[in-house]
Amino acid sequence: MSDINHRVRKQIMGYIVSQSISAVCELGVPDRLADDACLLGDLAASVGADADALGRFLRVLVAEGLFAEDGGGRFALTEAGELLRTDTPGSLRHLVGLMSNEAYLVWGHAAHSIRSGKESFSAAFGKPYFEWLSENPSAADEFARGQAGLVELRLLPLLDHDWSDVGTVVDVGGGTGALITRLLDRHEHLRGILFDLPHVVAEAPSTFGSAGIGERTTVVGGSFFDDVPGNGDVYVLSQILHDWDDASAGKILSSCRQAIPPGGRLMIVEQVLPESATTHPMALLDLHMLVLLGGRERTITEWRRLLTDHGFTLDSITQGPRSSVIEAVPV
Ligand SMILES: C[S@@+](CC[C@H](N)C(=O)[O-])C[C@H]1O[C@@H](n2cnc3c(N)ncnc32)[C@H](O)[C@@H]1O
Repeated sequence: MSDINHRVRKQIMGYIVSQSISAVCELGVPDRLADDACLLGDLAASVGADADALGRFLRVLVAEGLFAEDGGGRFALTEAGELLRTDTPGSLRHLVGLMSNEAYLVWGHAAHSIRSGKESFSAAFGKPYFEWLSENPSAADEFARGQAGLVELRLLPLLDHDWSDVGTVVDVGGGTGALITRLLDRHEHLRGILFDLPHVVAEAPSTFGSAGIGERTTVVGGSFFDDVPGNGDVYVLSQILHDWDDASAGKILSSCRQAIPPGGRLMIVEQVLPESATTHPMALLDLHMLVLLGGRERTITEWRRLLTDHGFTLDSITQGPRSSVIEAVPV
C-alpha cells in the first residue's frame, strides 16, 4: 500500500483513535497504571474489561505512543499517556470527557455546519447545546467538571498577573466558580462576582463557603445576552466568546461594555488562532466550536476587529501555555 493511501486511510479512521482513548479512560485504565506496569489479564480484571478486547485497544494506543508493552504482555503508561490520568499535573483527562459522548455524536452531523455555517447540535439533538445542557443535569455536571478541570491550565497567565490595583473581579460565564476560587485563594484582597446561567451557579454559594471565600464572593444567575453585574474593576471572559458567532459574541461584549465602570477593563482568556492553514489543536478546536455551538476561534486580526466593533480597544496579549489573556479597555 502506498504511503499516501496509508496516510489517507488513517485520517479517514482517525476517530477510532480518539474514541479508543475515550473508552480506555472511561474504564479507568490510565489511572490503574499510574503506579505500576500491569499484565494484561490483571489489568483487564481490575477495570472490568474483556482481556482480548482490551489488548486490541491497547495495540492501537501503543502504536499511538500512549502506552508501552514490554514484549511479555505487561503494559505501562508512556510519558504522553500520563496526561490521560485524572490526578496528574497538566492532565488532559477532562478534555477527553469534553470530546466524548454528545460532543462526539454531534460530529455525525457536521456536514450541516459546512452547508449552513451554523452549529449542528440542534440538527442532532433538537436544540442548541447550552439549552440542552440545562435540561440534562448529568451531562451539565460533566460539562462543568470538564471545564473546571481545564481552568488550572487556563489560569496560569491570570494568576501571575498584577492584581494589586484591582478590587472586584467579575467572572462572566464563570461556570461553577473554579476560576474565582483559585484567584481569590491566591490574592486575598480580591472580591469576586460569579455570573452564569441560574442552574449553573446554583451550588456556587455553598462551594465558595466551603472554600472559605464566601464573605468575599457574590453569585448572580442570569444571561449575558440580557445584562451582566456592574461595579467590577476587571471583567473576565474565559472561554466564552469562542462559543459564539460574531453577532452573539458582540452582544456579550456590549453587555460587558454597559456594565464596566470608568477605569474598568476586560480580560479575555482564549486561544489565538494562527493566521495560516494548520492542524494546530486550536484549528481543530475552531471546527469543534462551529459544529457544537456555532462559535469560532479567532486570529489576532479577528479579535481586534470584534473588540473595536463593540466599544473596546485591544490593549495587550499575554501568551500562556495553553490560552492567551487578551486585555481590552473601553473606548
Ligand atoms: C466553555 S464554558 C466556560 C466556563 C468558564 N468560564 C471556564 O473558563 O471554564 C461556557 C460557559 O458559558 C455559560 N453560558 C452559556 N450561555 C450563557 C448565558 N446566556 N449567560 C451566561 N452564561 C452562559 C455556560 O453555562 C458555561 O459555564
